[in-house]
Amino acid sequence: MSGFEQDYIKEAFDTNWIAPIGKNIDYFEQEISQFVGTRGAVALSSGTAAIHLALKLLNVGRGDLVFCSSLTFVASANPILYQGAEPVFIDSEPITWNLSPQALEQAFHYFEKEGKLPKAVIVVNLYGQSADMSKILDICNHYNVPVIEDAAESLGATYKGKASGTLGKYGIYSFNGNKIITTSGGGMLVSEDIEALERVRYWATQARDPARYYQHSRIGFNYRLSNVLAGIGRGQLRVINERVNARRNVFDIYNNELSSLDGIEFMSEAAFGRSSRWLTALTINPKKTSVKAEQVLDALESENIEGRPVWKPLHLQPLFKKNLYFPHSPEGSVSDQLFQSGICLPSGSNLTVEEISRVVDCIKEVFHEC
Ligand SMILES: Cc1ncc(COP(=O)(O)O)c(C=O)c1O
Repeated sequence: MSGFEQDYIKEAFDTNWIAPIGKNIDYFEQEISQFVGTRGAVALSSGTAAIHLALKLLNVGRGDLVFCSSLTFVASANPILYQGAEPVFIDSEPITWNLSPQALEQAFHYFEKEGKLPKAVIVVNLYGQSADMSKILDICNHYNVPVIEDAAESLGATYKGKASGTLGKYGIYSFNGNKIITTSGGGMLVSEDIEALERVRYWATQARDPARYYQHSRIGFNYRLSNVLAGIGRGQLRVINERVNARRNVFDIYNNELSSLDGIEFMSEAAFGRSSRWLTALTINPKKTSVKAEQVLDALESENIEGRPVWKPLHLQPLFKKNLYFPHSPEGSVSDQLFQSGICLPSGSNLTVEEISRVVDCIKEVFHEC
């Protein structure tokens, strides 16, 4: 917490707006849309809810196809299933670890021949770094298929000078407890389309018709963020730039200390943007060292340090075993390799230099022992 949150929370308590409406929500929406540069924003109970309603805006329904990055958290794709649609997973490219334009093209060619194009493409900006949106948008525009940008992990990052999450038709952010700024739980949907955002507000409040009594003509959801949590978000947003700088600094220290070890390769930062470095991620190249990612994770765990493998790709999840997958190239799947060799290190913006040194020393020891 930044310390500013208490003021906004106090205001909600003082005015007795402990509800999913109130000034904090209105201001939080305005402040986020100003920060990222969109015409509007709607505060929701989670990033998952935001993806769900973005799919609904695009009329994704039963039997429709939705292309989605494979290397991501399951929340990127679960809402496709909520809508009764079918996810098709797309591999990563090796530079940004994000959606491979090459694989995306393959998927479009395949389904064009089948005579069935997807209703939407969900592009994930992984670990704080934007995907190569120009290339992806060129392909999607060619087929006239809209893009939802899952920027849950990349608030504060940029792509060619624009805020990550604002390049697609709809963008979503998450304020889950582990994100760069948090409301403990929460999300936001951003867009240029004010009318669409109004529909999202309506769906997110149980689709209540404008009548004195409670009348409902359509299915709705209880997806609004509370006014208290929006107050936390406002306090957090005031320090977003500091948080990004802190995360980038954590990355720089790990990079300086560890990149000389044979086989350690940090997730690179593409020239087209600035990553928030939400998580510091690296791979261990099996051609250069006998150290395995598992060994490093075991060593960290024995020191009570929380490391994690890179996301298990969705095409490898039992939940999606029947869904199609398009790899980056015939030589193999990039996301499978990243999963096998990748590690996310502790990356919190409040990590001290001493804490980072503990992680560094532990990893160095594993490498020196082998
Ligand atoms: C890539 C990605 N998409 C979606 C989500 C879902 O956000 P939330 O937890 O706010 O529902 C998360 C994180 O939780 C995420 O990392």
